[in-house]
Amino acid sequence: MERNQFVPEEELAAQRLCMERVRALPQRPRTYHVVTYGCQMNAHDSEKLAGMLEAMGLSEAPARDEADFVIFNTCCVRDNAERRALGNVTWLKEVRKLRPELMIAVCGCMIQEPGMAERILRQYPFVDLAFGTSNLHRFPSLLEEVLTGGQRVVAVEDGDVIAEDVPVRRLRRDAAYLTIMYGCDNFCSYCIVPYVRGRERSRRMEDILREAEGLRDSGVQEIMLLGQNVNSYGKGMGTDFPTLLRAVDALGIPRIRFMTSHPKDLSDELVQAMADCRHVLPQFHLPVQSGSDEVLRQMNRRYTRAAYLDRVRALRQAVPGIGLTTDLIVGHPGETEEQFRETLSLVDEVGYDSAFTFIYSPRTGTRAAAMPDPVPAEVSTERIQRLIALQERRQREVMARFLGQTEEVLVEGLSKRSDRQVSGKGGHGVSVTFPGGPEDIGKIVRVRITAQRNNTLAGERAEETEA
Ligand code: SAH
Ligand code: SF4
Ligand code: F3S
Repeated sequence: MERNQFVPEEELAAQRLCMERVRALPQRPRTYHVVTYGCQMNAHDSEKLAGMLEAMGLSEAPARDEADFVIFNTCCVRDNAERRALGNVTWLKEVRKLRPELMIAVCGCMIQEPGMAERILRQYPFVDLAFGTSNLHRFPSLLEEVLTGGQRVVAVEDGDVIAEDVPVRRLRRDAAYLTIMYGCDNFCSYCIVPYVRGRERSRRMEDILREAEGLRDSGVQEIMLLGQNVNSYGKGMGTDFPTLLRAVDALGIPRIRFMTSHPKDLSDELVQAMADCRHVLPQFHLPVQSGSDEVLRQMNRRYTRAAYLDRVRALRQAVPGIGLTTDLIVGHPGETEEQFRETLSLVDEVGYDSAFTFIYSPRTGTRAAAMPDPVPAEVSTERIQRLIALQERRQREVMARFLGQTEEVLVEGLSKRSDRQVSGKGGHGVSVTFPGGPEDIGKIVRVRITAQRNNTLAGERAEETEA
């Protein structure tokens, strides 16, 4: 791998100095609020924004309308994600009328779209700062420029860089995100991610392991390895994802998960690593998108229905009872009723613990946006409803396998319904609720599953029922 992908240490040191200078500025904002849209990768970027802001002396405000500085970390994967973000930015304009000192920044994937930064400048004159995903590590110097120059600042580049050692303020103490690679080279027909997140690039294994060790030593119970396509980790570097997974497993962190896997790159070695690794949880998110070979070809997914089903079989053989989840798109250009039914039959056949279902949303610049035969909105709506109904039924059926079984649950917090109940994720990835209190938060508890609610499970402490 070329060394020039790494942001040089001098640049990172310059940013650290910058954070100290901002901290000393009398006119700097005192409190911040980060509003996050999109995927786990964006959520982790927000943790880095918060980390840099705290290093600059700001503290988090409980709500966005109370903060001196509000930053929107946007997503543009579907039209509604984009509209939500812009709608909320506009709402702050009213807050700014009451509090003229309020500063507003917009960053993230949306800003990387061609022409978007200029559009933001033109249509949203109350935005002080806009920067793209490739400029994240330069946030301190951009903020300093706004604060000292008295002018709005826009920064968007196409740099496919890796910046190590950016400060992070983690959302949770017990569970942590750990990025292993950035970008995506797959160019699925419908997807804007490769355009806004740049080319695929992997972090060095020693940097990842060092970060994981630090997390382990701070008491983290669970890490989630992140990348748009973790299965192609290490390409061109003489290593691969199964090797990394085994190395992380050996560190002794209780629970390891990862996201996202592309079916075309799911190797037998990875399946074997899933079976061997003690701490890697028995769950797998394997987006299929469609059950029709022709639609998969149009989508440039580079696997067939049969190849996908073969991977599902291999995973289930290696890890019996594994929790499988997926992503599905209905209404890709040209999708026929017949082809849609193949998606239904695949969902029926696999039996997912859960599925994220989306109506295809055209994204400017992608290949699908230029394809003929759009599926009418009412047809897509009707299809997604049928798909959801089927998935809900299959989910109820497959989740019955947990009844009477024991799940190890990492407790996230008090249940929304009762403060004498706690909830968290079981090892298979399903939410579990059981009697408990604040003292359980952040701990792993063995729970015997006694009941099944729509998409969650309920149970009792295994220790108590076994005694
Ligand atoms: N890298 C991951 C996820 C990327 S985005 C992967 O390859 O699976 C998450 C999901 O959003 C995708 O799996 C897909 O189902 C959905 N998605 C992406 N672009 C979309 C679009 N233009 N319209 C509708 N859904 C889309
Ligand atoms: Fe998008 Fe496909 Fe890359 Fe996933 S693998 S981010 S769906 S282009
Ligand atoms: Fe959205 Fe960017 Fe993630 S477009 S889904 S936030 S990579």
